[in-house]
Amino acid sequence: MKDPIARLEEMEAKAQLAGGQARIDKMHEAGKLTARERISALLDEDSFVELDKFVTHRCADFGMQDQKILGDGVVTGHGTVDGRPVCVFAQDFTVFGGSLSGAYAQKICKVMDLATKIGCPVIGLNDSGGARIQEGVESLAGYADIFLRNVLSSGVVPQLSAIMGPCAGGAVYSPAITDFILMVDRTSYMFITGPEVIKTVTHEEVTKEQLGGAATHASKSGVSHFTEVDELSCIARIRELLSFMPGNNAEDPPHKETQDPPDRADEALDTVVPLESNKPYDIKKIITAVVDDKHFVEVHKDYARNIVCGFARFDGQSVGIVANQPAHLAGCLDIDASTKAARFVRFCDCFNIPLVTFVDVPGFLPGTNQEYGGIIKHGAKLLYAFAEATVPKITVITRKAYGGAYDVMASKHIRADVNVSYPAAEIAVMGPEGAVNIIYRSELEKIADEKARAEARAKFTEQYRETFANPYKAASLGYIDEIIRPRDTRWTIVRSLRTLKNKRQANLPRKHGNIPL
Ligand code: HXC
Repeated sequence: MKDPIARLEEMEAKAQLAGGQARIDKMHEAGKLTARERISALLDEDSFVELDKFVTHRCADFGMQDQKILGDGVVTGHGTVDGRPVCVFAQDFTVFGGSLSGAYAQKICKVMDLATKIGCPVIGLNDSGGARIQEGVESLAGYADIFLRNVLSSGVVPQLSAIMGPCAGGAVYSPAITDFILMVDRTSYMFITGPEVIKTVTHEEVTKEQLGGAATHASKSGVSHFTEVDELSCIARIRELLSFMPGNNAEDPPHKETQDPPDRADEALDTVVPLESNKPYDIKKIITAVVDDKHFVEVHKDYARNIVCGFARFDGQSVGIVANQPAHLAGCLDIDASTKAARFVRFCDCFNIPLVTFVDVPGFLPGTNQEYGGIIKHGAKLLYAFAEATVPKITVITRKAYGGAYDVMASKHIRADVNVSYPAAEIAVMGPEGAVNIIYRSELEKIADEKARAEARAKFTEQYRETFANPYKAASLGYIDEIIRPRDTRWTIVRSLRTLKNKRQANLPRKHGNIPL
């Protein structure tokens, strides 16, 4: 009888080699890491505990009974990132192109179930040819089992998906349900139907990269949240993102010590916002100036650039930042900006991450494209998300807060806790020019002389600006708690977060709300 330990070692070596050295070499030649290499880059050294290493598929069709590979195309298990537990699965392209069998799906489901039991994030490293064709409906059932878990774990544990190779067909829906998608530039793609099918059906010619490459999903579709230049940068980004999140919805996000003084004033901020209300400036200058160590991790950087979302810390406390970007489309809210920010706000609220909102918004973007595209329902998503959120909410109005967009952008009325504004802020139903055109129209029409009419218009505009386009009306009503000097923004936010540290707020019990999708 064979030495049992020798047998185990032999089996382990076999499992380690997965689809064989030739296929591993091919991966390396293509600039890709193997599934196990990816996992060891992701997890703390020696922390990985692999599960189901000897699982094989159960298919007996198409000669598959003679092609059993230990592990069956996915490496699963748990380990730690910065000492905190995570569950992980990495699809192994060297085994049947990483395609998903019934047994493979069960392995993924097992770690997903473990993650919800112990309350830790799930990281999926995707690189797969999709459904294992030889297994037919058993593979489709396996996908559905994963999708169900993605849905049931949503808002319970963070779920992150890295796309490191193909991800096509219905397989895309597992990453799509997860909280964040990261794609590796040039080596990953995601689509429902590939270029060949598209050519047959719609006669459009498109390459894989154009259709579903990282650049496309980062800027056009908004499907992916991060594009990374290579696999190691992608893995580093996952580790960094995890540092802002708790392990589950019952925990608070981890605290990170900083040497950055909480009351650090920044005089330069007093002049960052131009006094001319139509002059653009980069809101990210304010964000990076006020957060701990100037470190801001932007989410969806190349999508809907009129709104900026991302993670940062104040005095070691992880926060989610949402900010209108006056440097793009004047910071107007449109369909893409609304859905981008709504999803981000909801993520933060799921995982107890306070929200800091910077407001400089002239309103919703006008146009038939927007109206026909459903800006009403999409804008409502952002309103819904901010209103529903019960995490600490701090709002800083840096300049314009006009119309419905004022209400939507974490206003006092939808339960923001601390609302402050800069002294030159303009908070009103609309900008002075638009307002004068409406309320003084008949008066202006009566003035025949063009010059006199222009003078009257200028006078009314100035009057309106003096009366309404400032923060004092809102402050007199208690809608703004405080008007602050821009240089004190950091301290104001730190102080507010400290005050709100033990905030407890709950919404009425219900099965779930009905966000306008
Ligand atoms: C079984 C597969 C496979 C699959 C690839 N392989 N995809 N085996 N089922 N879905 C095998 C290949 O036979 C090959 O085996 C090895 O994996 C590597 O594949 P290559 O084609 O040599 O690699 P490459 O040239 O890099 O192309 C990768 C690929 C291509 C683009 C992914 O393999 C491909 O198009 N595969 C089919 C994709 C597909 O149609 N999947 C079904 C989608 S529908 P050998 O032994 O030669 O190394 C779907 C529905 C999900 O997924 C629904 C969920 C609800």
